[in-house]
Amino acid sequence: MYFQEQKSGPMLTEIWVPLFIMLISISPSIFALLVVPPQSFPSIQSLSGRAAENSSLLQCLQVAPPTLSPGQDCQQTLMVHTFAFSYGQPFVGTYYPPACDFNRVVFNFTVTSAGRQFDRLALMYFDDVEIFRTSTAEPTRTGIIWRYAKDMSAYLALFRKPQKIVFDLGNLVDDTYTGKWNTTLTATFFNADNAIEPADVIIPISAQRSAANQSSAFIVPQSKAIDNLKLPQNAHKAVFTISACGQAEEEFWWSNVLSSGTGAFGNETTLYGHSPFRELQLFIDGHMAGVAWPFPVIFTGGIVPGFWRPIVGIDAFDLREDEIDISPFLPLLCDDKPHTFEIRVIGIDDDGRGNGKFTEGIGSNWVVTGKVFVWVDQGLNITTGTAIVTHAPEPSLQLYSTTRKGANGSVDTLDYSIQVSREISIDSIIYTSTGPKELFWRQNLTFSNAGSLRNQGNDQIMHQTTLGTARSSSGYDRSFEYPLWVISSYNAPSGGNLTIEAEMGRGKYAQQLGDLAFPNDWKTLDRLHAMANSSFLGSNTNNWQNGTASYLSVPAQKKSYGSGSTEQLFALSGTVKQQDTTVGAGAADQRTEELYRRHIIAANDSVVYDDESYGAQKVGRNRLLFPSQSTREDGVHEFAGSGVRAFLGRGPY
Ligand SMILES: *[C@@H]1O[C@H](CO)[C@@H](O)[C@H](O)[C@H]1NC(C)=O
Ligand SMILES: *[C@@H]1O[C@H](CO)[C@@H](O)[C@H](O)[C@H]1NC(C)=O
Ligand SMILES: *[C@@H]1O[C@H](CO)[C@@H](O)[C@H](O)[C@H]1NC(C)=O
Ligand SMILES: *[C@@H]1O[C@H](CO)[C@@H](O)[C@H](O)[C@H]1NC(C)=O
Ligand SMILES: *[C@@H]1O[C@H](CO)[C@@H](O)[C@H](O)[C@H]1NC(C)=O
Ligand SMILES: *[C@@H]1O[C@H](CO)[C@@H](O)[C@H](O)[C@H]1NC(C)=O
Ligand SMILES: *[C@@H]1O[C@H](CO)[C@@H](O)[C@H](O)[C@H]1NC(C)=O
Ligand SMILES: *[C@@H]1O[C@H](CO)[C@@H](O)[C@H](O)[C@H]1NC(C)=O
Ligand SMILES: *[C@@H]1O[C@H](CO)[C@@H](O)[C@H](O)[C@H]1NC(C)=O
Ligand SMILES: *[C@@H]1O[C@H](CO)[C@@H](O)[C@H](O)[C@H]1NC(C)=O
Ligand SMILES: *[C@@H]1O[C@H](CO)[C@@H](O)[C@H](O)[C@H]1NC(C)=O
Ligand SMILES: *[C@@H]1O[C@H](CO)[C@@H](O)[C@H](O)[C@H]1NC(C)=O
Repeated sequence: MYFQEQKSGPMLTEIWVPLFIMLISISPSIFALLVVPPQSFPSIQSLSGRAAENSSLLQCLQVAPPTLSPGQDCQQTLMVHTFAFSYGQPFVGTYYPPACDFNRVVFNFTVTSAGRQFDRLALMYFDDVEIFRTSTAEPTRTGIIWRYAKDMSAYLALFRKPQKIVFDLGNLVDDTYTGKWNTTLTATFFNADNAIEPADVIIPISAQRSAANQSSAFIVPQSKAIDNLKLPQNAHKAVFTISACGQAEEEFWWSNVLSSGTGAFGNETTLYGHSPFRELQLFIDGHMAGVAWPFPVIFTGGIVPGFWRPIVGIDAFDLREDEIDISPFLPLLCDDKPHTFEIRVIGIDDDGRGNGKFTEGIGSNWVVTGKVFVWVDQGLNITTGTAIVTHAPEPSLQLYSTTRKGANGSVDTLDYSIQVSREISIDSIIYTSTGPKELFWRQNLTFSNAGSLRNQGNDQIMHQTTLGTARSSSGYDRSFEYPLWVISSYNAPSGGNLTIEAEMGRGKYAQQLGDLAFPNDWKTLDRLHAMANSSFLGSNTNNWQNGTASYLSVPAQKKSYGSGSTEQLFALSGTVKQQDTTVGAGAADQRTEELYRRHIIAANDSVVYDDESYGAQKVGRNRLLFPSQSTREDGVHEFAGSGVRAFLGRGPY
């Protein structure tokens, strides 16, 4: 968030009420999310019960459905490594396929750390192909531990051959920042009856630096994310996936203002611009092939660290990739010639009068890689086809930014809003050994963000919604909604103390039929426990987090304190076709069956409520816990000289 060292201003409560009214008028649906609990929430004060698992290390977690991983008969340790002073020095190892037979692979990543440290980003590669992107929880003086399990079966083609492992987790250690990361990564191999159809070939769009033992990410906009590659000529399906997240100036892209408003509070206040809208665009030989509107990942130092311990933000341990079905491009791509793939990260610059245009000139930086997953034909027939028809009209844009002045003539408030919508469709016919097929890829997307800054930019309230649908001729059909609201207030009175108060709510809701490169979530769920034998058409995921947190830094004591409470509700259900319908595949013929649910609340570093179930079955772990009694000392944040973004973020990449 942006905050600026300033004299004391109005407290959070003073600005709260009128701004809430603004929220209501802008988005009734978001208001509904704010006031209507997903289900009844117990009050924290009333909780009592058994104590948590007794370990000296605080257990951090990302709420996620448990991954199927039966037995440990065929397991390999891929990495045991401590990342200390590790910028530019990734772990480098070698992977050899195990002797056992397998059609599934699950990673199990364990990390411990103690001391003081920022959150850090990590990218793992097999050769030049990024296969896993994660970030770290922030440690405490006495230490933390987390485990994350991830189904890796989409990469089966890579696991069948030896690979160079490059695991890049850049970290700095000095007198102040003492936390090192002790990591262990294991892979479990097994066979499962399943509907996963992994790609035959996986081709990276990356900086290709594994030969030099380096990370292969493109850092955009400093470098262009562009690569040339050749596809097998008998491809019948191709999917592009994008792995990308904002760092440094772009870490909180969703809280940026319009470019015309960055100077609203004068030179003393740094506001980041290019709007809070970001689009990831894929171009194949210069033709628009599809876009991704990114999920706003918030890392564990984000806004106020007290939100994210021990429950980290949605996707923080597993930054998931967006997918684009590029099969309609196969008539172009199967000609045995190299083709150019480019990923552009786009923001918007405006003139302050409601006119804006897309720009690649965003802040520094985004960490970007891509991949093409290819499925080849049984036969060796060369795939041919018709011309590719792309329909990607200019997006529609609505921008608004204005300042209000106080009695003394200085700017009191900056209000801004932005709405973007666009449609893309791409069509072609391909000819393979099985005959002609009509292929398409279609996307409909809308984005809205409105915000207000006061008190020299120290107080901000924003809310955002990203909504979209994507459909492909393969049967893939995904609709999603990513709501996000944040209210934050920064205060740095003379004397050196610093406080931040914030509230937030965010969600990741997705309904998906079929799948593209990555298996649909129901396929990787631990179904042995879920007792779900049925084959589903798809799944629905509802993932919601909200919380309150505050932070106090007292340089005179060389200490900082944090508190906070965060609540999360996660539910995964499978989509089944109604038994008694005979025609159509419309939503009316479908119903959902709950497979997994978890409702969890953390307060001041402890999980105080945890209710987990598989379908109708309660999990033994279901429990009520004691809230922590102590005010916690926050290990990380000492008085930094630079802006609060650097202070709360991870510093320069
Ligand atoms: C937890 O461990 C500490 C130190 O080993 C011990 O003193 C305490 O009794 C344990 N608490 C519980 C509830 O087991
Ligand atoms: C991951 O490893 C830990 C520690 O070895 C183990 O307890 C856990 O069961 C493993 N999880 C999976 C999904 O394999
Ligand atoms: C990390 O590993 C080192 C060396 O094995 C060990 O001394 C240290 O206690 C470990 N830290 C944590 C937090 O587990
Ligand atoms: C890459 O790392 C491996 C393993 O540490 C080492 O043997 C090799 O010499 C390194 N290559 C380069 C180019 O640094
Ligand atoms: C802001 O900075 C610009 C360029 O450095 C300078 O010309 C201008 O006078 C400054 N304005 C204020 C209000 O300090
Ligand atoms: C104008 O008033 C606001 C409070 O309304 C105050 O924060 C600001 O410092 C004042 N500016 C000047 C130049 O006096
Ligand atoms: C596939 O190739 C074979 C051999 O060249 C040819 O006989 C056959 O017609 C081709 N099939 C299609 C659908 O083009
Ligand atoms: C996109 O919206 C248009 C109308 O605006 C509609 O005709 C089309 O079916 C939508 N496509 C998808 C994939 O939802
Ligand atoms: C800073 O905060 C501490 C703890 O609340 C308080 O004791 C101290 O007086 C504050 N210092 C200043 C200069 O306000
Ligand atoms: C699921 O399949 C197993 C083995 O085929 C069977 O024993 C079990 O009863 C089935 N469960 C349900 C809920 O159908
Ligand atoms: C989350 O939101 C619900 C519904 O508004 C509210 O009852 C609950 O107290 C919030 N939880 C936290 C931790 O702020
Ligand atoms: C968390 O700590 C803060 C600050 O000490 C305190 O005000 C709050 O009541 C605590 N919350 C819970 C649930 O213990």
